[in-house]
Amino acid sequence: MAPFWSRERLQGLIREGLGGLPLIVVSNREPWMHQRDGHGLIQAERPASGLVTALEPFAEASGGTWIAHGSGDADRCSVDARDAVAVPPGRPCYRLRRVWLSDAEQEGYYTHLANRALWPLCHVAFVPPHYEAAHWHTYRQVNARFAEAVLQEAAGEAALVFLQDYHLALVPRLLRQANPHLLLVQFWHVPWPNRELLRTFPQADALIEGLLGNDLIGFQIPAHASNFLDAADRLVEARVDPDGDLVHQNGHRTQVGAYPISIDYQQWNESAASSAVAEAMQCWQQQIGVHDPALLGVGMERLDYTKGLPQRLLAVERLLEDHPEWHGRFCFVQLLATSRTQITEYRRLRSELERITARVNARWASGGWQPLQLRIEQRDVRERLALQRLARFCVVSSLHDGMNLVAKEFVASRCDGDGVLILSRFAGCALELGGALQVHPYCVEQIAAAMAQALSLEPADRRLRMAQMRRQVSDYNVYRWGASILADSLRLRDQMQLQSSALLG
Ligand code: G6P
Repeated sequence: MAPFWSRERLQGLIREGLGGLPLIVVSNREPWMHQRDGHGLIQAERPASGLVTALEPFAEASGGTWIAHGSGDADRCSVDARDAVAVPPGRPCYRLRRVWLSDAEQEGYYTHLANRALWPLCHVAFVPPHYEAAHWHTYRQVNARFAEAVLQEAAGEAALVFLQDYHLALVPRLLRQANPHLLLVQFWHVPWPNRELLRTFPQADALIEGLLGNDLIGFQIPAHASNFLDAADRLVEARVDPDGDLVHQNGHRTQVGAYPISIDYQQWNESAASSAVAEAMQCWQQQIGVHDPALLGVGMERLDYTKGLPQRLLAVERLLEDHPEWHGRFCFVQLLATSRTQITEYRRLRSELERITARVNARWASGGWQPLQLRIEQRDVRERLALQRLARFCVVSSLHDGMNLVAKEFVASRCDGDGVLILSRFAGCALELGGALQVHPYCVEQIAAAMAQALSLEPADRRLRMAQMRRQVSDYNVYRWGASILADSLRLRDQMQLQSSALLG
């Protein structure tokens, strides 16, 4: 049965609800990067970003403009005179407008302030945030550049501007001051820290005030929304409504809510059943050397210290220590895409993972069999789907995560109704995916025990658990997420219009 919220239905809501109001999506990471391959040919590539995965169906459905940093090495020669290119390649349906940043801007704004200060600040992963006034200065400058691009696109008229994530916290206030006709909505994809942690950021008040330029701010789960309301109440001069979801400041009000993000379940599910994926499954079997899916565990994500990767590999080691019956048979494949490689903590993590892998394989590898395969390489969607379909279990053991779409992708990929998800209780999606084997991501023994359980769970139990999760992800897909943010935004616009006509009348 087709899910209630489909691309077509969202498109309908966008057309009717917006009634011609242009939609502008803004994020740091672009949905398509143009890169030169080894032969000098330009290829369009998809970056490894959960945000991009979730937003693209929305952008496609709206047919609007997406503004993002042009970071591909052939991006400049792929745009028109207005710095824009129609995407996706081959079936263009929205415009990608690129913002250019110098190396120094990219370093201060992206590498340092966004990813060495705000990223560790928002995730409790015990990597200390790194603050420098100069980086804050660059972050402000770059946020002004993004605001300028939005203002050009809107050309003084009304538009719905849908901002994404922690790279752009100061944009909404700048936009509100420059063009009061804009309806401003922001989605914060990562956790929002509690007040004690947030106070360690020297410009916490400016961050909150920047975000309060929005009409609506969405978080992944209610706990992050209430952390934000608490911060607005206590750290800046603002008033929070007693019933809790509105912040008033300088005559403007911002609604705050939780909107758990999701994926295009149907597309994922259908692609998983395709012959192209079946072929890719066979290729994987050759490459991994494991032909029995009952003996395969997988993990796949960006190489990031929030994902609990060392603990996961140590759990494989513990599993093999405790279960000699799996020696020579069981294999865990960890696929990792790299990003933010300029940052020391990421490089250090990579070495640590390589060290653990070498040790585990030195202890148990025999006759061509390797129990742990660490593959730090970019694979396309078809290959990732194939690996997810092949495995008995997939591990998502984030130390802290806003939502985690890999978990939802795994569930959607299991068109065979089988497979076990081992899931950190500190990932936002743990609230939805009750059928997973939930683990404490710091507790290596617990992860190892969950792996052993996944390998021996009865088929009926596996199917029951998977069915619950597939129902959930199918019902709460990315279109429903988009529709609920959009419906709330349009409700706010209608209320504002009523208020201003009452004032005039
Ligand atoms: C997380 C963030 C996104 C970001 C993605 C990839 O999912 O919420 O905003 O795009 O990581 O990180 P990168 O730094 O490579 O864009």
